[in-house]
Amino acid sequence: MEKRFVRESRCYKTSRVFPTDVNNHNTLFGGKLMAYIDDIASISASKHSRRAVVTASTDSVDFLYPIRPTDSVCLEAFVTYTGKSSMEVFVKVITEDLKTAERRIAATSFLTFVAMDENKRPVAVPQVTPQTEEEKRLNETALNRLEFRRIRRETSKEFSGHLTMKFPWE
Ligand SMILES: CC(C)(COP(=O)(O)OP(=O)(O)OC[C@H]1O[C@@H](n2cnc3c(N)ncnc32)[C@H](O)[C@@H]1OP(=O)(O)O)[C@@H](O)C(=O)NCCC(=O)NCCS
Repeated sequence: MEKRFVRESRCYKTSRVFPTDVNNHNTLFGGKLMAYIDDIASISASKHSRRAVVTASTDSVDFLYPIRPTDSVCLEAFVTYTGKSSMEVFVKVITEDLKTAERRIAATSFLTFVAMDENKRPVAVPQVTPQTEEEKRLNETALNRLEFRRIRRETSKEFSGHLTMKFPWE
């Protein structure tokens, strides 16, 4: 089975916080950051698999610190673990105060992408080889997250079976 290094899927994106990007508290709108995260994570999954990919799930987005207009926002994404057709991507959001140079991990997220073949069916992806301490730690802890995800997916499926599909006006 083909293998790729984690670094081969690594991507970065640095942005300013513009007035149109903020919420009522004058900090970066959470939905904007979530869109950045999904965007960069999908590029990382595509670089690892060299296939079309779809987002299967986002575990969570942990907003650890508000992001201010004086901060730069740097996102880093890489594939941490692979199943057969699925890839776990970790996204780390580092802010830097542009005047003081103070840095913070402002948010983290784990997402799962599935590689698709030409017929839009899940297709096998290369395995991933971690090298740095951070990469190894994320790789070693992936099985725990996979298990949580499996349980959550089953719970979601079971739960959705009890939901009505009626629109409010019907
Ligand atoms: C994700 C999707 C392709 C899975 O299809 P499926 O028919 O359930 O496929 P399978 O059950 O064979 O699962 C394929 C892989 O996806 C993983 N997977 C499926 N649903 C998942 C979920 N909610 N979270 C994490 N992994 C998931 C499976 O564990 C499996 O991994 P593996 O091949 O590494 O073992 C399908 O549910 C889908 O198309 N969902 C919509 C995706 C979408 O529209 N995303 C937003 C826009 S990109």
